[in-house]
Amino acid sequence: MLKAQSVPTVVVRAPAKINLHLGVGPLRDDGFHELVTVFQAVSLVDTLSMSAAEETSITAVAADNSTVALNDIPLDKTNLVWRAMSLLSKTYYPTLLAESNVAAKIAKSIPVAGGMAGGSADAAAALVGLNALWELGLTRSELISLATQLGSDVPFSLTGGTALGRGRGEELTPILTRGTYHWVVATANFGLSTPTVFAELDRLRASGNTVSENFGRNDWLAMPTELEQALAAGDAHRVAPLLHNDLQAAAFSLQPLLRRTIRAGIEAGALGGIISGSGPSCVFLCADDEAAIAVAAELAGAGVASGIKVVTSPVSGAQVI
Ligand code: C5P
Repeated sequence: MLKAQSVPTVVVRAPAKINLHLGVGPLRDDGFHELVTVFQAVSLVDTLSMSAAEETSITAVAADNSTVALNDIPLDKTNLVWRAMSLLSKTYYPTLLAESNVAAKIAKSIPVAGGMAGGSADAAAALVGLNALWELGLTRSELISLATQLGSDVPFSLTGGTALGRGRGEELTPILTRGTYHWVVATANFGLSTPTVFAELDRLRASGNTVSENFGRNDWLAMPTELEQALAAGDAHRVAPLLHNDLQAAAFSLQPLLRRTIRAGIEAGALGGIISGSGPSCVFLCADDEAAIAVAAELAGAGVASGIKVVTSPVSGAQVI
């Protein structure tokens, strides 16, 4: 008999991430770039519901009050939730493979292909959810090791909070932060493919493009010590000028309109603004909640984004609710 039947439905919430600092080194032999990054989890979350079923299936809906576009989400074996299920059942549930089918429903708020680790959040939610549904009793470090096999950002989606990421982003060290940060997230009505943005950065660097903010630098993998100090002090005014993303020049090169979005957020009164990860979502750090609401209203009026959200950080990683 299926153990899963004793826990009919498990619901897990997992957060989006932003990169307060993203230093991108050279392309490695394995196709990934060496990174030094500061991840922070924000209060924009996907919710994954999972229950035992005759056949495995994935459905995706927009969460309440969300205008997230669902067209680009694959609902087959290529979806990271499905890959997480296969990996977990193969590794820890081999004798019951045939009986370990699960119906998974994703309620999405995190933009798809938006540079905010939406797919990784869903994968992390699947690992946490199946650990509960199948009563596997896996430890945090066992889950993190599985997460690493699913994608560079999945371990951080599990842990949440604020962390320094090294390697391809999967080697995490928690960073001490004080207080709550207030952000406006501006989403686009198009996605950007992560490999394409990394490849564009390589192209810009190889071409010696002097427009690129990356040209002529060789300190890509320097430690973001000043940023860590500002985060420890809990001072948004100190954090704002230290926001940095090496992929920003590549995202601008592929989608020049994003420059306007960043400029509009700064003109609206944000302390700082940056492309999130590989984009195209833009995030704006604000002094407090009131300032964030004012910046969001102004940005909505400027017509430079398809969706605007006010969020806070840091929040915890994937957890059963
Ligand atoms: O790890 P993940 O599957 O999210 O990575 C997607 C793609 O993004 C990789 O195949 C690679 O092209 C690019 N990437 C990279 N360097 C990293 C992380 C991702 O080049 N550190």
